[in-house]
Amino acid sequence: MSTIKQLGMFQSEPDGPDAPDAAAPEGCPASALGAAFEPFSDAYLADPYPFFERARREEPVFYSPETGYWVVARHDDIVSVFRDPKTFSAALARHPVTPLCPAAAKVRDGLDIAIEPSLVDEDPETHLKHRKIFGDAFTPRRVAEIEPRIRAIVTRYIDRFAGDGEAELVSQMLYEVPALAIFIFLGARDDDAVFVKRLGSARAVVNWGRPDEDQQVAMMKDMGEHWAFTKELVDAALEDPGDNYLGDMVRLHREDPSRFTVNYLYNVMFLMQFAGHETTTQASANGLKALLADRAQWDRLCREPGLIANAVEEILRFDTSIFAWRRIATRDAEIGGVAVPAGAKILLLLGSGNRDDAAFPDGERFDIERADAKRHLAFGNGAHFCMGAPLARLEMRIVLEELTRRLPGMRLVEGQDWQYVPTLTFRGVQKLRVAWDTETPVR
Ligand code: HEM
Repeated sequence: MSTIKQLGMFQSEPDGPDAPDAAAPEGCPASALGAAFEPFSDAYLADPYPFFERARREEPVFYSPETGYWVVARHDDIVSVFRDPKTFSAALARHPVTPLCPAAAKVRDGLDIAIEPSLVDEDPETHLKHRKIFGDAFTPRRVAEIEPRIRAIVTRYIDRFAGDGEAELVSQMLYEVPALAIFIFLGARDDDAVFVKRLGSARAVVNWGRPDEDQQVAMMKDMGEHWAFTKELVDAALEDPGDNYLGDMVRLHREDPSRFTVNYLYNVMFLMQFAGHETTTQASANGLKALLADRAQWDRLCREPGLIANAVEEILRFDTSIFAWRRIATRDAEIGGVAVPAGAKILLLLGSGNRDDAAFPDGERFDIERADAKRHLAFGNGAHFCMGAPLARLEMRIVLEELTRRLPGMRLVEGQDWQYVPTLTFRGVQKLRVAWDTETPVR
Protein backbone atom coordinates (compact mmCIF):
# COMPACT_ATOMS: atom_id res chain seq x y z
CA MET A 1 0.00 0.00 0.00
CA SER A 2 1.40 3.36 -0.98
CA THR A 3 2.49 5.77 1.70
CA ILE A 4 2.90 8.59 -0.78
CA LYS A 5 -0.57 9.87 -0.17
CA GLN A 6 -0.39 9.91 3.59
CA LEU A 7 2.87 11.82 3.48
CA GLY A 8 1.48 14.36 1.09
CA MET A 9 4.20 13.78 -1.50
CA PHE A 10 3.52 13.85 -5.23
CA GLN A 11 0.10 15.16 -4.33
CA SER A 12 -1.48 18.04 -6.12
CA GLU A 13 -1.14 21.28 -4.31
CA PRO A 14 -4.47 22.07 -2.68
CA ASP A 15 -4.36 25.62 -3.97
CA GLY A 16 -2.38 24.95 -7.13
CA PRO A 17 -2.81 26.54 -10.53
CA ASP A 18 -6.29 25.16 -11.05
CA ALA A 19 -7.47 27.12 -8.02
CA PRO A 20 -5.54 30.38 -8.33
CA ASP A 21 -7.94 32.42 -6.23
CA ALA A 22 -7.26 30.33 -3.18
CA ALA A 23 -3.91 32.02 -2.61
CA ALA A 24 -4.86 35.46 -3.90
CA PRO A 25 -3.73 37.90 -1.24
CA GLU A 26 -6.29 40.28 0.15
CA GLY A 27 -5.76 43.92 -0.71
CA CYS A 28 -3.22 43.10 -3.38
CA PRO A 29 -4.88 43.34 -6.78
CA ALA A 30 -3.14 41.55 -9.62
CA SER A 31 -0.61 43.85 -11.22
CA ALA A 32 0.10 44.29 -14.92
CA LEU A 33 3.30 42.36 -14.42
CA GLY A 34 1.51 39.55 -12.61
CA ALA A 35 -0.95 39.28 -15.49
CA ALA A 36 1.92 39.24 -17.99
CA PHE A 37 3.65 36.33 -16.29
CA GLU A 38 2.82 33.34 -18.51
CA PRO A 39 5.43 30.75 -17.59
CA PHE A 40 4.10 28.06 -19.93
CA SER A 41 3.83 30.27 -22.99
CA ASP A 42 6.10 29.51 -25.95
CA ALA A 43 7.60 33.00 -25.81
CA TYR A 44 8.57 32.72 -22.15
CA LEU A 45 9.93 29.19 -22.49
CA ALA A 46 12.00 30.20 -25.51
CA ASP A 47 13.47 33.28 -23.82
CA PRO A 48 12.37 34.29 -20.31
CA TYR A 49 15.16 36.81 -19.87
CA PRO A 50 13.37 39.91 -21.22
CA PHE A 51 10.54 39.22 -18.76
CA PHE A 52 13.05 38.74 -15.94
CA GLU A 53 14.65 42.11 -16.73
CA ARG A 54 11.26 43.80 -16.68
CA ALA A 55 10.35 42.15 -13.37
CA ARG A 56 13.57 43.24 -11.66
CA ARG A 57 12.99 46.79 -12.87
CA GLU A 58 9.22 47.17 -12.43
CA GLU A 59 8.06 44.90 -9.65
CA PRO A 60 10.70 42.55 -8.25
CA VAL A 61 8.23 40.75 -5.98
CA PHE A 62 4.79 40.21 -7.50
CA TYR A 63 1.81 37.91 -7.23
CA SER A 64 0.99 35.71 -10.23
CA PRO A 65 -2.72 34.90 -10.56
CA GLU A 66 -2.07 32.27 -13.25
CA THR A 67 0.15 30.14 -11.02
CA GLY A 68 -0.90 31.18 -7.51
CA TYR A 69 2.75 31.96 -6.69
CA TRP A 70 4.52 35.01 -5.34
CA VAL A 71 7.38 35.54 -7.76
CA VAL A 72 10.77 36.92 -6.72
CA ALA A 73 13.14 38.30 -9.36
CA ARG A 74 16.07 40.08 -7.68
CA HIS A 75 19.28 38.35 -6.63
CA ASP A 76 19.44 39.68 -3.07
CA ASP A 77 15.77 38.98 -2.36
CA ILE A 78 16.19 35.39 -3.58
CA VAL A 79 19.23 34.96 -1.33
CA SER A 80 17.29 36.33 1.65
CA VAL A 81 14.56 33.71 1.10
CA PHE A 82 17.08 30.87 0.70
CA ARG A 83 18.86 32.02 3.85
CA ASP A 84 15.77 31.79 6.04
CA PRO A 85 14.62 28.15 5.82
CA LYS A 86 12.47 28.43 8.96
CA THR A 87 10.29 31.12 7.39
CA PHE A 88 10.55 29.83 3.84
CA SER A 89 10.18 26.07 3.86
CA ALA A 90 11.44 23.83 1.06
CA ALA A 91 8.60 21.34 1.64
CA LEU A 92 6.96 22.19 -1.68
CA ALA A 93 9.96 21.29 -3.84
CA ARG A 94 8.56 18.13 -5.43
CA HIS A 95 4.82 18.68 -5.32
CA PRO A 96 3.19 18.59 -8.76
CA VAL A 97 2.23 22.11 -9.80
CA THR A 98 -0.66 20.68 -11.80
CA PRO A 99 -3.22 18.58 -9.92
CA LEU A 100 -2.99 14.86 -10.60
CA CYS A 101 -5.87 13.46 -12.65
CA PRO A 102 -7.96 10.70 -10.99
CA ALA A 103 -6.39 7.98 -13.16
CA ALA A 104 -2.85 8.97 -12.11
CA ALA A 105 -3.90 9.31 -8.48
CA LYS A 106 -5.30 5.77 -8.66
CA VAL A 107 -1.99 4.43 -9.99
CA ARG A 108 -0.16 6.35 -7.27
CA ASP A 109 -2.36 4.93 -4.55
CA GLY A 110 -1.64 1.39 -5.74
CA LEU A 111 2.13 1.78 -5.72
CA ASP A 112 4.17 -0.05 -3.14
CA ILE A 113 6.52 2.82 -2.39
CA ALA A 114 7.25 4.96 0.65
CA ILE A 115 8.38 8.41 -0.38
CA GLU A 116 9.21 10.68 2.54
CA PRO A 117 10.73 14.15 2.68
CA SER A 118 14.42 13.77 1.96
CA LEU A 119 16.99 16.56 1.82
CA VAL A 120 15.53 18.75 -0.89
CA ASP A 121 12.10 19.07 0.77
CA GLU A 122 12.94 18.44 4.42
CA ASP A 123 12.20 20.74 7.33
CA PRO A 124 15.14 22.58 8.90
CA GLU A 125 15.89 20.37 11.93
CA THR A 126 15.84 16.97 10.24
CA HIS A 127 17.39 18.47 7.13
CA LEU A 128 20.36 19.77 9.11
CA LYS A 129 20.98 16.39 10.67
CA HIS A 130 20.65 14.43 7.41
CA ARG A 131 22.51 16.97 5.30
CA LYS A 132 25.49 16.74 7.63
CA ILE A 133 25.63 12.97 7.15
CA PHE A 134 24.91 12.76 3.42
CA GLY A 135 26.71 16.00 2.53
CA ASP A 136 29.87 15.21 4.50
CA ALA A 137 30.09 11.85 2.75
CA PHE A 138 29.95 13.55 -0.67
CA THR A 139 33.68 14.11 -0.42
CA PRO A 140 36.05 15.70 -2.95
CA ARG A 141 37.92 12.37 -2.97
CA ARG A 142 34.80 10.42 -3.98
CA VAL A 143 34.14 12.91 -6.78
CA ALA A 144 37.76 13.13 -7.97
CA GLU A 145 38.25 9.37 -8.10
CA ILE A 146 35.59 8.92 -10.78
CA GLU A 147 37.02 11.62 -13.07
CA PRO A 148 38.96 9.13 -15.26
CA ARG A 149 35.85 7.02 -15.76
CA ILE A 150 33.70 10.00 -16.71
CA ARG A 151 36.39 11.16 -19.14
CA ALA A 152 36.52 7.69 -20.69
CA ILE A 153 32.74 7.75 -21.15
CA VAL A 154 32.77 11.21 -22.76
CA THR A 155 35.59 10.06 -25.05
CA ARG A 156 33.63 6.98 -26.04
CA TYR A 157 30.60 9.07 -26.99
CA ILE A 158 32.66 11.56 -29.00
CA ASP A 159 34.42 8.66 -30.79
CA ARG A 160 31.03 7.46 -32.00
CA PHE A 161 30.21 10.64 -33.91
CA ALA A 162 33.54 12.43 -34.45
CA GLY A 163 33.92 11.07 -37.99
CA ASP A 164 30.39 12.04 -39.03
CA GLY A 165 30.85 15.79 -39.32
CA GLU A 166 27.60 16.42 -37.50
CA ALA A 167 25.74 15.40 -34.35
CA GLU A 168 22.72 16.17 -32.25
CA LEU A 169 24.58 16.53 -28.99
CA VAL A 170 21.70 16.07 -26.54
CA SER A 171 20.57 12.64 -27.77
CA GLN A 172 24.05 11.51 -28.85
CA MET A 173 25.91 12.42 -25.68
CA LEU A 174 24.53 14.90 -23.15
CA TYR A 175 21.41 12.91 -22.30
CA GLU A 176 23.31 9.80 -21.24
CA VAL A 177 26.62 11.01 -19.79
CA PRO A 178 25.21 12.47 -16.52
CA ALA A 179 23.13 9.34 -15.96
CA LEU A 180 26.24 7.18 -16.26
CA ALA A 181 28.23 9.52 -14.03
CA ILE A 182 25.73 9.49 -11.15
CA PHE A 183 25.42 5.72 -11.41
CA ILE A 184 29.18 5.30 -11.16
CA PHE A 185 29.29 7.71 -8.24
CA LEU A 186 26.57 5.90 -6.33
CA GLY A 187 27.94 2.49 -7.19
CA ALA A 188 25.16 1.26 -9.46
CA ARG A 189 25.74 -0.82 -12.59
CA ASP A 190 26.20 1.70 -15.35
CA ASP A 191 24.40 -0.43 -17.95
CA ASP A 192 21.17 0.30 -16.04
CA ALA A 193 21.71 4.06 -16.17
CA VAL A 194 19.94 4.93 -19.40
CA PHE A 195 16.96 2.70 -18.61
CA VAL A 196 16.60 4.44 -15.24
CA LYS A 197 17.03 7.87 -16.75
CA ARG A 198 14.11 7.12 -19.07
CA LEU A 199 12.01 6.15 -16.04
CA GLY A 200 12.57 9.61 -14.58
CA SER A 201 12.27 11.59 -17.78
CA ALA A 202 8.53 12.36 -17.49
CA ARG A 203 8.93 13.52 -13.89
CA ALA A 204 10.10 17.02 -14.77
CA VAL A 205 6.96 17.73 -16.77
CA VAL A 206 4.62 15.95 -14.35
CA ASN A 207 5.89 17.63 -11.18
CA TRP A 208 6.78 21.03 -12.56
CA GLY A 209 4.79 21.38 -15.77
CA ARG A 210 1.36 21.03 -17.33
CA PRO A 211 1.22 17.34 -18.21
CA ASP A 212 -1.70 15.68 -19.93
CA GLU A 213 -3.42 12.70 -18.32
CA ASP A 214 -1.44 10.09 -20.28
CA GLN A 215 1.85 11.66 -19.17
CA GLN A 216 0.70 11.67 -15.55
CA VAL A 217 -0.33 8.02 -15.62
CA ALA A 218 2.87 6.95 -17.41
CA MET A 219 5.01 8.90 -14.96
CA MET A 220 3.34 7.27 -11.96
CA LYS A 221 3.96 3.81 -13.42
CA ASP A 222 7.58 4.70 -14.18
CA MET A 223 7.98 5.98 -10.64
CA GLY A 224 6.91 2.60 -9.28
CA GLU A 225 9.53 0.87 -11.44
CA HIS A 226 12.19 3.38 -10.49
CA TRP A 227 11.45 2.90 -6.80
CA ALA A 228 11.70 -0.89 -7.18
CA PHE A 229 15.06 -0.47 -8.93
CA THR A 230 16.32 1.84 -6.18
CA LYS A 231 15.21 -0.51 -3.44
CA GLU A 232 17.02 -3.43 -5.08
CA LEU A 233 20.14 -1.31 -5.47
CA VAL A 234 20.15 -0.29 -1.80
CA ASP A 235 19.24 -3.77 -0.55
CA ALA A 236 22.17 -5.24 -2.48
CA ALA A 237 24.49 -2.63 -0.97
CA LEU A 238 23.16 -3.39 2.50
CA GLU A 239 24.30 -6.98 1.96
CA ASP A 240 27.58 -6.13 0.35
CA PRO A 241 28.61 -2.43 0.45
CA GLY A 242 30.98 -1.39 -2.32
CA ASP A 243 33.79 1.14 -2.39
CA ASN A 244 31.53 4.00 -3.46
CA TYR A 245 29.15 6.63 -2.07
CA LEU A 246 26.26 4.24 -1.47
CA GLY A 247 28.67 1.81 0.22
CA ASP A 248 29.85 4.65 2.47
CA MET A 249 26.27 5.40 3.47
CA VAL A 250 25.61 1.74 4.25
CA ARG A 251 28.72 1.60 6.44
CA LEU A 252 27.55 4.69 8.33
CA HIS A 253 24.15 3.09 8.82
CA ARG A 254 25.70 -0.14 10.11
CA GLU A 255 27.85 1.76 12.61
CA ASP A 256 24.81 3.54 13.99
CA PRO A 257 21.36 2.69 12.58
CA SER A 258 19.84 5.64 14.46
CA ARG A 259 21.56 7.99 12.01
CA PHE A 260 18.89 7.36 9.38
CA THR A 261 16.43 4.61 8.48
CA VAL A 262 16.79 2.24 5.55
CA ASN A 263 13.69 3.82 4.03
CA TYR A 264 15.37 7.23 4.23
CA LEU A 265 18.34 5.76 2.37
CA TYR A 266 16.00 4.47 -0.35
CA ASN A 267 14.60 7.98 -0.59
CA VAL A 268 17.93 9.77 -0.90
CA MET A 269 19.15 7.35 -3.56
CA PHE A 270 15.86 7.78 -5.43
CA LEU A 271 16.24 11.56 -5.25
CA MET A 272 19.88 11.61 -6.30
CA GLN A 273 19.32 9.50 -9.39
CA PHE A 274 16.84 12.08 -10.63
CA ALA A 275 18.59 15.24 -9.37
CA GLY A 276 21.85 14.15 -10.93
CA HIS A 277 20.56 13.57 -14.47
CA GLU A 278 18.36 16.09 -16.14
CA THR A 279 19.90 19.13 -14.50
CA THR A 280 23.38 18.42 -15.80
CA THR A 281 22.22 17.36 -19.26
CA GLN A 282 20.33 20.61 -19.67
CA ALA A 283 23.03 22.86 -18.19
CA SER A 284 25.61 21.40 -20.57
CA ALA A 285 23.30 21.80 -23.56
CA ASN A 286 22.47 25.42 -22.67
CA GLY A 287 26.17 26.12 -22.15
CA LEU A 288 27.29 24.71 -25.47
CA LYS A 289 24.58 26.67 -27.21
CA ALA A 290 25.74 29.92 -25.57
CA LEU A 291 29.39 29.23 -26.32
CA LEU A 292 28.91 28.26 -29.94
CA ALA A 293 26.68 31.26 -30.52
CA ASP A 294 29.58 33.44 -29.41
CA ARG A 295 32.38 32.19 -31.64
CA ALA A 296 35.14 34.30 -30.13
CA GLN A 297 34.55 32.84 -26.69
CA TRP A 298 34.39 29.27 -28.00
CA ASP A 299 37.66 29.78 -29.91
CA ARG A 300 39.23 31.27 -26.81
CA LEU A 301 38.28 28.20 -24.76
CA CYS A 302 39.75 25.93 -27.43
CA ARG A 303 43.03 27.85 -27.20
CA GLU A 304 43.02 28.28 -23.42
CA PRO A 305 41.48 25.26 -21.68
CA GLY A 306 42.53 26.76 -18.36
CA LEU A 307 39.48 29.03 -18.71
CA ILE A 308 37.03 26.11 -18.80
CA ALA A 309 36.36 25.87 -15.04
CA ASN A 310 35.28 29.51 -14.96
CA ALA A 311 33.32 29.09 -18.20
CA VAL A 312 31.29 26.39 -16.44
CA GLU A 313 30.36 28.89 -13.71
CA GLU A 314 29.46 31.52 -16.29
CA ILE A 315 27.27 29.01 -18.14
CA LEU A 316 25.48 28.20 -14.89
CA ARG A 317 24.97 31.90 -14.28
CA PHE A 318 23.97 32.86 -17.80
CA ASP A 319 21.50 30.10 -18.69
CA THR A 320 21.08 27.62 -15.88
CA SER A 321 18.99 24.46 -16.02
CA ILE A 322 16.95 25.12 -12.85
CA PHE A 323 15.88 28.64 -13.62
CA ALA A 324 13.22 28.80 -10.88
CA TRP A 325 12.70 26.96 -7.58
CA ARG A 326 9.99 26.93 -4.94
CA ARG A 327 9.47 27.72 -1.28
CA ILE A 328 6.39 28.12 0.95
CA ALA A 329 6.04 30.72 3.73
CA THR A 330 5.51 29.16 7.16
CA ARG A 331 4.43 32.52 8.66
CA ASP A 332 3.63 36.07 7.61
CA ALA A 333 6.84 37.46 6.18
CA GLU A 334 8.40 40.13 4.03
CA ILE A 335 10.44 39.80 0.86
CA GLY A 336 12.14 42.90 -0.52
CA GLY A 337 9.75 45.12 1.43
CA VAL A 338 6.63 43.29 0.18
CA ALA A 339 4.44 41.52 2.74
CA VAL A 340 3.62 37.90 1.93
CA PRO A 341 1.12 35.92 4.00
CA ALA A 342 1.71 32.63 5.82
CA GLY A 343 1.08 29.82 3.34
CA ALA A 344 2.21 31.88 0.35
CA LYS A 345 3.81 29.77 -2.34
CA ILE A 346 6.94 31.40 -3.64
CA LEU A 347 8.70 31.06 -6.96
CA LEU A 348 12.32 32.19 -6.91
CA LEU A 349 13.48 33.16 -10.40
CA LEU A 350 17.06 31.94 -10.13
CA GLY A 351 17.70 32.72 -13.79
CA SER A 352 16.67 36.31 -13.14
CA GLY A 353 18.80 36.69 -10.01
CA ASN A 354 21.72 35.38 -12.06
CA ARG A 355 21.45 38.30 -14.48
CA ASP A 356 20.72 40.98 -11.90
CA ASP A 357 23.08 43.91 -12.61
CA ALA A 358 23.12 44.69 -8.90
CA ALA A 359 24.91 41.40 -8.30
CA PHE A 360 26.67 40.89 -11.65
CA PRO A 361 27.70 44.05 -13.49
CA ASP A 362 26.41 43.96 -17.06
CA GLY A 363 24.54 40.78 -16.13
CA GLU A 364 23.03 40.13 -19.57
CA ARG A 365 26.51 39.73 -21.06
CA PHE A 366 27.97 36.22 -21.40
CA ASP A 367 31.61 36.41 -20.41
CA ILE A 368 33.64 33.28 -19.69
CA GLU A 369 36.19 35.40 -17.84
CA ARG A 370 33.68 37.00 -15.48
CA ALA A 371 35.44 37.24 -12.14
CA ASP A 372 32.43 36.74 -9.88
CA ALA A 373 30.52 34.16 -11.99
CA LYS A 374 30.67 31.59 -9.19
CA ARG A 375 28.28 33.67 -7.05
CA HIS A 376 25.41 32.53 -9.30
CA LEU A 377 22.26 31.00 -7.82
CA ALA A 378 22.16 27.97 -10.11
CA PHE A 379 22.74 25.60 -7.20
CA GLY A 380 20.61 27.58 -4.74
CA ASN A 381 22.15 29.22 -1.70
CA GLY A 382 22.21 28.38 2.00
CA ALA A 383 21.10 25.21 3.78
CA HIS A 384 19.83 23.30 0.72
CA PHE A 385 22.69 24.32 -1.59
CA CYS A 386 22.94 21.60 -4.25
CA MET A 387 24.75 18.62 -2.79
CA GLY A 388 25.78 17.37 -6.22
CA ALA A 389 27.38 20.64 -7.36
CA PRO A 390 30.96 19.24 -7.37
CA LEU A 391 29.87 16.33 -9.55
CA ALA A 392 27.88 18.55 -11.92
CA ARG A 393 30.85 20.91 -12.26
CA LEU A 394 33.20 18.00 -12.95
CA GLU A 395 30.95 16.56 -15.67
CA MET A 396 30.41 19.90 -17.36
CA ARG A 397 34.14 20.63 -17.29
CA ILE A 398 35.06 17.26 -18.83
CA VAL A 399 32.46 17.63 -21.60
CA LEU A 400 33.88 21.05 -22.50
CA GLU A 401 37.50 19.94 -22.22
CA GLU A 402 36.99 17.01 -24.56
CA LEU A 403 34.80 18.80 -27.11
CA THR A 404 37.07 21.86 -27.34
CA ARG A 405 40.14 19.63 -27.64
CA ARG A 406 38.77 17.24 -30.23
CA LEU A 407 36.29 19.28 -32.24
CA PRO A 408 37.42 22.91 -32.07
CA GLY A 409 35.82 23.58 -35.44
CA MET A 410 32.38 22.64 -34.15
CA ARG A 411 29.63 25.13 -35.01
CA LEU A 412 25.87 25.41 -34.52
CA VAL A 413 23.77 24.23 -37.44
CA GLU A 414 21.88 27.30 -38.61
CA GLY A 415 18.10 27.66 -38.56
CA GLN A 416 17.44 25.30 -35.66
CA ASP A 417 14.09 25.38 -33.95
CA TRP A 418 15.03 25.71 -30.26
CA GLN A 419 12.65 23.69 -28.11
CA TYR A 420 12.56 23.86 -24.32
CA VAL A 421 11.01 21.52 -21.81
CA PRO A 422 7.65 23.07 -20.75
CA THR A 423 8.05 23.38 -16.98
CA LEU A 424 8.09 26.07 -14.33
CA THR A 425 11.58 25.14 -13.14
CA PHE A 426 13.68 23.23 -15.65
CA ARG A 427 15.24 24.96 -18.61
CA GLY A 428 17.15 23.06 -21.23
CA VAL A 429 17.35 23.12 -24.98
CA GLN A 430 16.03 19.75 -26.13
CA LYS A 431 18.10 19.41 -29.28
CA LEU A 432 21.47 20.89 -30.15
CA ARG A 433 22.58 20.24 -33.71
CA VAL A 434 26.22 20.90 -34.46
CA ALA A 435 28.52 20.32 -37.43
CA TRP A 436 32.24 20.43 -38.17
CA ASP A 437 34.63 19.88 -41.01
CA THR A 438 35.79 16.26 -41.13
CA GLU A 439 38.71 17.08 -43.40
CA THR A 440 40.50 18.55 -40.38
CA PRO A 441 41.98 15.53 -38.59
CA VAL A 442 39.90 14.60 -35.56
CA ARG A 443 41.94 14.27 -32.36
C1 HEM B 1 23.95 21.57 -13.32
C2 HEM B 1 23.43 20.65 -12.56
C3 HEM B 1 22.63 20.92 -11.31
C4 HEM B 1 21.88 22.01 -10.97
C5 HEM B 1 21.66 23.29 -11.77
C6 HEM B 1 21.32 21.75 -9.66
C7 HEM B 1 20.54 22.64 -8.94
C8 HEM B 1 20.01 22.39 -7.69
C9 HEM B 1 19.14 23.28 -6.97
C10 HEM B 1 18.64 24.63 -7.48
C11 HEM B 1 18.84 22.70 -5.79
C12 HEM B 1 17.88 23.24 -4.72
C13 HEM B 1 18.56 24.18 -3.76
C14 HEM B 1 17.62 24.70 -2.71
O1 HEM B 1 16.50 24.23 -2.53
O2 HEM B 1 18.03 25.65 -2.02
C15 HEM B 1 19.53 21.43 -5.75
C16 HEM B 1 19.48 20.55 -4.69
C17 HEM B 1 20.04 19.30 -4.71
N1 HEM B 1 20.78 18.72 -5.73
FE1 HEM B 1 21.33 19.65 -7.43
N2 HEM B 1 21.72 20.50 -9.26
C18 HEM B 1 22.52 19.96 -10.23
C19 HEM B 1 23.14 18.72 -10.21
C20 HEM B 1 23.03 17.80 -9.21
C21 HEM B 1 23.67 16.51 -9.18
C22 HEM B 1 24.64 15.99 -10.25
C23 HEM B 1 23.26 15.88 -8.06
C24 HEM B 1 23.64 14.48 -7.67
C25 HEM B 1 24.32 14.05 -6.83
C26 HEM B 1 22.41 16.79 -7.33
C27 HEM B 1 21.83 16.53 -6.09
C28 HEM B 1 21.11 17.45 -5.37
C29 HEM B 1 20.58 17.18 -4.04
C30 HEM B 1 20.73 15.86 -3.26
C31 HEM B 1 19.92 18.33 -3.63
C32 HEM B 1 19.20 18.56 -2.30
C33 HEM B 1 20.18 19.21 -1.33
C34 HEM B 1 19.55 19.61 0.00
O3 HEM B 1 18.37 19.96 0.02
O4 HEM B 1 20.26 19.56 1.00
N3 HEM B 1 22.28 17.94 -8.06
N4 HEM B 1 20.24 21.27 -6.91
